[in-house]
Amino acid sequence: MSDTTALTNIGSLVTNDPALGEGALGLINDAALVTQDDRVLWVGPASEFDAADRVIDLEGRAVIPGFVDSHAHLVFAGDRADEFSARMAGQSYAAGGIRSTVEHTRAASDDVLRSGLQRLAGELHRSGVTTFETKSGYGLTVDDEQRALRLASEVTEEVTYLGAHVVPTEFTDRPDAYVALVTGAMLDACAPHARWIDVFCDRGAFDADQAREILRSGMARGLQPRVHANQLQHGDGIRVAVEVGAASADHCTHADDDDLELLAGSSTVATLLPGAEFSTRSEYPDARRMLDAGVTVAIATDCNPGSSYTTSMPLCIALAVREMHMSPAEALWSATLGGARALRRDDVGRLAPGARADVVSLNAPSYIHLAYRPGVDLIDRIWRAPVAPRVSP
Ligand code: NIG
Ligand code: FE
Repeated sequence: MSDTTALTNIGSLVTNDPALGEGALGLINDAALVTQDDRVLWVGPASEFDAADRVIDLEGRAVIPGFVDSHAHLVFAGDRADEFSARMAGQSYAAGGIRSTVEHTRAASDDVLRSGLQRLAGELHRSGVTTFETKSGYGLTVDDEQRALRLASEVTEEVTYLGAHVVPTEFTDRPDAYVALVTGAMLDACAPHARWIDVFCDRGAFDADQAREILRSGMARGLQPRVHANQLQHGDGIRVAVEVGAASADHCTHADDDDLELLAGSSTVATLLPGAEFSTRSEYPDARRMLDAGVTVAIATDCNPGSSYTTSMPLCIALAVREMHMSPAEALWSATLGGARALRRDDVGRLAPGARADVVSLNAPSYIHLAYRPGVDLIDRIWRAPVAPRVSP
């Protein structure tokens, strides 16, 4: 038997298991948590804690499951600070900006891309994220998309093929030929290196028919679908996501009652990305309406150089509470177990016996402080269970 480690004197512990504590967060005050190898072995009131090989006194700090960031675009070169600055002076955000990052990314060496990726993965980790997804989508050639996925696989097992991010410049007059590439030779090269397939179904990107075709071609190759849906305008993105059984419809900034009904009656999570509305100065999605309609909601960073250059889940939580009218408890749940649902994972996003020992302590007595103290770094310590690397041929 290997050694056990106990965290004791936890001011409040979020388990995300209603059977273990109070409310949806399964909150236990004055708690202890015991891990063994990469798993949680026991959680409960500190008064019932027995013994462990190693004991760490958390002196009343709050403990939460590590954040699960189910939506990020980390493989790119360069930045778009000038575009951001112009936007803050009144210009509006459009999908076309992606092409400037595509140019820089194609021109970059593997080492440049790798070091950018590692820098952002490090930032995510320090913001308390212990599981994250990342996408291709700034290569848009067979080789550049495959390269992005290979590099992404070095830092996470949740890798998404997003060859259908936008139609690249060289295909502007032949979008159908680009869709044929994305569903043909590019898919052949990329499918072995990814778990997910995504498409940006929106104004200036791909329409519903193209999105369906792209998602179905990936699904036929064993990839699971997720969709960038209804960020820039109301359209068919959410409908398509539910229709193909996507794990998640992401953004959902423009969603009508029919969309909410579809989502509520499906296993598709609505992943909200408040960093994007913040950085593009746009209307936030109506999370309150979604939750009240029974939709499962996740929150993610959408970290990318165009619409949301943040790796901070605590910022996203604060925005979700202040701007999208989620309660602090709903926002915390969405950034942990909600993210896990959006990645169809049941081993992360919660701290119950058997779950992965991905644990974060806060320099605060309660998770509520994540929204109550915006912009303050409250992440104290992060324990992340080792992950077996994804084997790609
Ligand atoms: O999720 N919406 C599409 N993709 C990104 C933006 C990418 C970019 O602007 O570079 C997003 O917001
Ligand atoms: Fe995105």
